[in-house]
Amino acid sequence: MTFHSIKPADLTENIFTLISKDWFLMSAEKEGRVNPMTVAWATAGILWQKPVVMCAVRPERFTREFLDSSDVFSLTVFDNSFRKILGYCGTVSGRDQDKVKEAGLTVAHAGEVPYYEECRMALLCRKLCVTPLKEEDFLGDHVFTEKWYGGENHADGTGGGYHLLYIAEITDILVKES
Ligand SMILES: Cc1cc2nc3c(=O)[nH]c(=O)nc-3n(C[C@H](O)[C@H](O)[C@H](O)COP(=O)(O)O)c2cc1C
Repeated sequence: MTFHSIKPADLTENIFTLISKDWFLMSAEKEGRVNPMTVAWATAGILWQKPVVMCAVRPERFTREFLDSSDVFSLTVFDNSFRKILGYCGTVSGRDQDKVKEAGLTVAHAGEVPYYEECRMALLCRKLCVTPLKEEDFLGDHVFTEKWYGGENHADGTGGGYHLLYIAEITDILVKES
């Protein structure tokens, strides 16, 4: 499989559709193991004159350990035939199963950044800043913090710990050749 590289400014796909409809697999490597987690709460834009993504990761995710032990991660996009795999990586924890193996994904590397041969696009990211959302910083209750935070996290996305925001530079975007 060959991929070609494009600049973030040359991405023509709608970023809102990518995040909220296609979803990403967020993957980092720790001690030779890669763990994919489905993410749909993210933003993309410009900070510090750099193209960045900002991903909201709950502190209880196994993925957090992988993100915190690496400087880099990827956000990969798949075509619709991988929908079940994205559902699986978004409901099962890498604490319980080797998700790469169970999903039949093939890890590839761009430099140090792990991604998957099966993806149609990979955003390669270098961490710039990790900062927690804090209960006291929410203004009014427009976010319904009681719905989204506290207690256990549920399958519908409600409950759980206040997110950590992983802000990362998009260093490259790999697009699969058709
Ligand atoms: C569509 C979808 C989107 C999700 N988005 C996020 C997200 O943005 N941040 C997050 O922390 N968890 C998100 N999750 C939940 C995690 O993917 C899920 O808890 C996963 O099993 C965690 O895996 P891990 O423990 O191996 O890290 C999402 C789940 C689904 C199904």
